[in-house]
Amino acid sequence: MTGKPVIAGNWKMNLNPDEVRKFFQDFRPNLSSGSAPEVLVFPTSVSLFAAQVALPADPEVGVGVQNIHWKAGGAFTGEISAAMAKASGAEFTLIGHSERRHLFGETDEEVGLKVGAALGADLVPVICVGEKLEERREGRLSEVILRQLDAVLPVLGSHPTKRILLAYEPVWAIGTGETATPEDAAEAHLILRGRLVEALGRENGGTIPILYGGSVKPDNTAELLGAPEVGGVLVGGASLDPVSFSKIVEAGAGA
Ligand code: PGA
Repeated sequence: MTGKPVIAGNWKMNLNPDEVRKFFQDFRPNLSSGSAPEVLVFPTSVSLFAAQVALPADPEVGVGVQNIHWKAGGAFTGEISAAMAKASGAEFTLIGHSERRHLFGETDEEVGLKVGAALGADLVPVICVGEKLEERREGRLSEVILRQLDAVLPVLGSHPTKRILLAYEPVWAIGTGETATPEDAAEAHLILRGRLVEALGRENGGTIPILYGGSVKPDNTAELLGAPEVGGVLVGGASLDPVSFSKIVEAGAGA
């Protein structure tokens, strides 16, 4: 792994502003070793401000939004632009989470446009890819995740100096309690790394962290972080509880 592991909490449609404040009162990872991982949280947009106000100083926690629109503004009811998210204090944005792709019909093309908008607004995109159970059973893991990655490679190639994070989240492991084994994660991460290096060169493509997501919990974090090419974790359900998220951050400190 190059650099510190990234421990990211995707809060989805959970935690209102009061609940976010309460979360940070109880979020107390014990990081006596001094080797804090990079910690990120993704509240809903309406709780973004509450999160910024309540963030602890130690460990530092970065904040992001869960989705952006690719247009700069206009008649797009319910959407927020990358520049608006940035101006509201977001530093990161999830893009292409499987719930966006499969519940809201987000296409590979839209994911590419959103990544371009994020990079243009100096938001760090956390680009999510992952296969569904039937695709995996049909032996199409590589085809699906490479198709999703290929859709963003041209825009990554045109922003070679910008920070980018990738997340592999097998859809069958999200919210199901079914975690990919470290070997499953490594297999997918190696496929993604190979393509990143091929397309962007070793210097850029070799250093983009690839996070694993899907039923990450305090007791499986360390072994997942120990797998080849796993540079962090993207945590849904277990990031909503400040005690369990603290333990995941502690596991990241030991990685
Ligand atoms: P989960 O969600 O940890 O609840 O499986 C992960 C995600 O959707 O990012």
